[in-house]
Amino acid sequence: MANIAVVGAAGYVGLAYSVSLAAFGHRVIGVDRDPGRIWMLNDGVAPIHEPELPELLQRGLATGLLTFTTDYATAIPPAEFVFICVGTPSTETGAADTSAIVAAATAIARQSKGRTIVVNKSTMPVGSAQFVADILAEHAPSGVTFTVVSNPEFLREGSAIYDIFHPDRIVLGADDLDAAHAVGDLYNTLNAAILITQPRTAEMVKYASNAFLATKISFINEVALICDQLDADVDVVARGMGMDARITPRFLHAGLGFGGSCFPKDVRALAAMARENACDSPLLNAVLDINAGMRSHVIAKVRRRLGTLTGATIGLFGLSFKPETDDIREAPAISLIEELLAQEATVQATDPVANAHIAARFPEVRLAADAYGAAMSADAVILVTEWPAYRSLNLDRIANAMRGRLVVDGRNVLDPGKVASAGLVYEGIGRPRNEGAGTRITVLPEAEPLRAQPRPESVIDSHPLASRGD
Ligand SMILES: NC(=O)c1ccc[n+]([C@@H]2O[C@H](COP(=O)([O-])OP(=O)(O)OC[C@H]3O[C@@H](n4cnc5c(N)ncnc54)[C@H](O)[C@@H]3O)[C@@H](O)[C@H]2O)c1
Repeated sequence: MANIAVVGAAGYVGLAYSVSLAAFGHRVIGVDRDPGRIWMLNDGVAPIHEPELPELLQRGLATGLLTFTTDYATAIPPAEFVFICVGTPSTETGAADTSAIVAAATAIARQSKGRTIVVNKSTMPVGSAQFVADILAEHAPSGVTFTVVSNPEFLREGSAIYDIFHPDRIVLGADDLDAAHAVGDLYNTLNAAILITQPRTAEMVKYASNAFLATKISFINEVALICDQLDADVDVVARGMGMDARITPRFLHAGLGFGGSCFPKDVRALAAMARENACDSPLLNAVLDINAGMRSHVIAKVRRRLGTLTGATIGLFGLSFKPETDDIREAPAISLIEELLAQEATVQATDPVANAHIAARFPEVRLAADAYGAAMSADAVILVTEWPAYRSLNLDRIANAMRGRLVVDGRNVLDPGKVASAGLVYEGIGRPRNEGAGTRITVLPEAEPLRAQPRPESVIDSHPLASRGD
């Protein structure tokens, strides 16, 4: 059992880690500068929506392994390990804002009492392990020493706890191998590969991973826009592509694009790092442009069908940036609401858990308890976030509630034939225009997704394409 302090413990990553590290059997004190959330946490109430989090929070508090405070002087002195989980949002230039890192590292340094390993869990620019080490050294009392280990995080909101317990890999960046192994030992109840490398490389693994996943999404969205013009079905195209074991079907879902607190800001931050170091990053910039364009594409579809948005009533289904979270940071719904309001449309919206966040930001949006309320007297509705409830809507009820007929499926999750059967007009993203016809697709048993077959050495060596590397 280790003594661990988690800084930023009321946020998505910090809280998921606080409860999980306590579940692994460590003694955890979570510290955050938000007193309201810390008060809720000590009362056993999770301030964010995340599956399995409330149960682990209750369990951690009940066992006494987990406590929360706003006071660094309480959290830091007993800690052998301090996890930094504060936010690193975008600045105006797109670079990561490291001001919360500076504040956290300064406070950690001032309160530490002995040898402490500081774990950089936040997504920080390449070079941050040294940056944090320098801040710690500058503010440390005499006799106190620090080692910094970069341990970037890959969890997904909506399945954060599952992902912490089942990581694809754990990446550790450290100059001090003993410190890297000590951090690796904190996770020894998990069955995961651990990659230990230099801090800068570990920091880059995180940015490159997010940028690659974002690139897959923008790639299939660009293909979807071309499918829209050529009357091909992007979903079947993605399926056919995904059956290739080199490609895989994941992150090949055409739609309104990516949002949230990570992909957009991390792609921007990587592009900013490239720019600051005189490197071109045309691909990263295109990924961001395509993503922003998907929101405009959907608005244009609605405007084209209705003639004008001025005075129209538009229903939005789903406001969080993805299902199973209440996080609305950079959610596609935000851009849609801004654009619809700018064009003087009336917006009626609903989300299973994020209504309150939208109400705080857009008081002029009418919020409904469910999709049927958001569809009431609407000229068009847009499915924005693919919450399970919206995949199985009673389409006759939607049709009866609406004034108009248009259903824009921003995530390609509705059955176009069923939408048409309810008397509604379906528009997806990159799906064929022959309304109601559905998509013809046959997958024979022989066409099951190909598994990557290890090829015998001799075949690889003798194969005429071996040198192409594909
Ligand atoms: N959210 C994700 O899915 C995810 C996944 C992987 C990595 N990350 C990275 O993890 C980091 C945190 O992300 P998040 O989504 O949890 O952010 P968040 O905004 O939800 O949480 C940050 C928390 O830090 C607290 N905080 C800020 N400054 C502080 C300080 N000086 N002292 C104490 N507490 C302070 C805030 O009050 C907040 O509760 C970011 O770098 C992000 O890129 C996030």
